Amino acid sequence: MYHTYVVVLVTGSSGTVGRAVAAAICTTARLGLAAGLTDDVRTVTGRAPATERQTLTRERGVGTHPRRSVVEVAVLGGTGRTGRAVVAELLRRGHDVAVLARDPATLGDAAASVRVVRGDSRDAGALTELTAGVDAVVSALGPVGREPTLHRDTAAALVPVLQQAGVTRFVGVSGAGIDVPGDRKSRRDRLISALVQRLGGAVVADKPAEHAVFAASDLDWTLVRPPRLTDGPATGRVEHHASESCRGTRIGRADLAAFLVDCVEQHLYPRRAPLVAAAR
Ligand SMILES: NC(=O)c1ccc[n+]([C@@H]2O[C@H](COP(=O)([O-])OP(=O)(O)OC[C@H]3O[C@@H](n4cnc5c(N)ncnc54)[C@H](OP(=O)(O)O)[C@@H]3O)[C@@H](O)[C@H]2O)c1
Repeated sequence: MYHTYVVVLVTGSSGTVGRAVAAAICTTARLGLAAGLTDDVRTVTGRAPATERQTLTRERGVGTHPRRSVVEVAVLGGTGRTGRAVVAELLRRGHDVAVLARDPATLGDAAASVRVVRGDSRDAGALTELTAGVDAVVSALGPVGREPTLHRDTAAALVPVLQQAGVTRFVGVSGAGIDVPGDRKSRRDRLISALVQRLGGAVVADKPAEHAVFAASDLDWTLVRPPRLTDGPATGRVEHHASESCRGTRIGRADLAAFLVDCVEQHLYPRRAPLVAAAR
């Protein structure tokens, strides 16, 4: 359901004309003459009007009340190793979850607990269906096979879809080997990053290209940069910084997933690319 909030300033509203204008506006609303739904918001702003839930979420302040403000979260890469952990963590914390899956069968038991949208992450139609009514998007996408431009192509398709849907929050996984402006990495990590970028080829080059797409947008994005990913149970011990290196050189996917969900719920690092690793 959509509501339109109108704020009218009538100078001299205590005067006869001001009172008449105010009365006319109130009467129009009371008689339901303003009840029709128009396309005016989209025409003027280029965006869909916010739903009632999105408005309430925003007015309650995303992050001010962790674990209550964000209700439904869409997940890209939810069939992957990190993505499955993200879906499990979101469900554990009581969120509604929508998952984009090329093959829904690969979701296993989780399929019964989430809204599943079949499709490719570069397909604007599938992304539109996925993000309808959600409060945030988390991406744990990773190229499977020969998809060297997966991240930038997905970002290019997703940004206008989110703008159109009025969804501003995006949290994705990048990599610690990527440099962004303002970095103050240690000598060790500067060396590792140089090697990763030199030897990583197109797949690694795709991450800064993705960053460029989000940085050029007006979205409230966060691109988390983990080092080497490992499997195993969550430890709950994570170190993260906006621009300095972490001491750790790896992180478990379950811990990374919990940090991604923290970023959404607590509104951590808006328009930043934090470095994260298992705390030593
Ligand atoms: N491995 C590391 O040490 C390391 C280090 C730092 C950062 N990272 C980054 O961490 C992220 C997650 O890695 P991971 O190993 O957990 O990933 P993963 O297990 O390989 O999962 C990749 C996910 O992306 C999905 N996907 C790929 N192409 C897609 C497309 N065109 N449309 C829709 N979905 C698509 C896959 O779906 P399907 O099930 O349909 O294939 C799968 O769900 C990646 O971005 C990776 O670069 C990894």
